[in-house]
Amino acid sequence: MWPCGHIYLRDTGFDMLDKERMPVHVAIIMDGNGRWAKERGLPRLAGHNAGMKAMKKIVDHSDKLGIKYLTVYAFSTENWKRSIAEVSGIFKLLVTYVNSDLKELVENNVRVRVLGDYSALPKDAVKSLERTLRDTHDNTGLQFNIALNYGGRDEIRRAVVAIGERIAEGTLSPEDITDEVIARELYTGSLHADVPDPELIIRTSGELRLSNFLLWQSAYSELVFPDVLWPDFTPEEYEKAIADYQSRDRRFGGR
Ligand code: IPE
Ligand code: IPE
Ligand code: MG
Repeated sequence: MWPCGHIYLRDTGFDMLDKERMPVHVAIIMDGNGRWAKERGLPRLAGHNAGMKAMKKIVDHSDKLGIKYLTVYAFSTENWKRSIAEVSGIFKLLVTYVNSDLKELVENNVRVRVLGDYSALPKDAVKSLERTLRDTHDNTGLQFNIALNYGGRDEIRRAVVAIGERIAEGTLSPEDITDEVIARELYTGSLHADVPDPELIIRTSGELRLSNFLLWQSAYSELVFPDVLWPDFTPEEYEKAIADYQSRDRRFGGR
């Protein structure tokens, strides 16, 4: 155990990290499942299955590192463009993961939240997710946010609609729209999952873009792009990405 402010980190076996400068919120674009499968001559769904296993290890490891919020991009508003077989396969895997791991998540004091309009998912997926949200509701450890049917532009559009409705009702005037008023309405805002902006965003697989992920919240995030495909992203790779983040000079427009 290392002292880290007032919290203690469990021994993770790697010690390259500055325990005083751990990010509070890490967000991950889990990319490269399809290429991982292709390299092995396997169907794309085998890649998504391997990706779920990698995700599970990263959830456990976030908890061990004392990270307070972990957000993973699991399905974007654009991913509906994929084949029906792939889309429904991804949701089946999600149901399997959520159902088989619910007990462990509850035992580990993990609180699960969803970012995105998950009501558009297949019925069984909605049911499993709702049960998970309910059963982990009172947990106080790691908050694990799964971005599902999530898009940054869709999120901002919804916030604009909600604010427009308040103006139409006469409960808000345009000059009172601050950054905070907008942020509150986002999926990450205090009216919803209540997550601070991520200090660190990781995208695996070597692609150098955000693909509509956390557009508002990423304003001052540090971006790290490990060259491994998501199923190959191990806790050790995770710590390397955090070490990279810790080496950055964050200036926030100041000097
Ligand atoms: C990320 O892996 C998972 C989802 C988008 C659901 P991909 O399926 O995008 O993998 P690549 O980019 O085709 O390798
Ligand atoms: C981003 O990956 C979405 C998720 C990881 C869920 P994509 O594979 O969909 O992004 P693009 O198409 O390469 O930009
Ligand atoms: Mg991809």
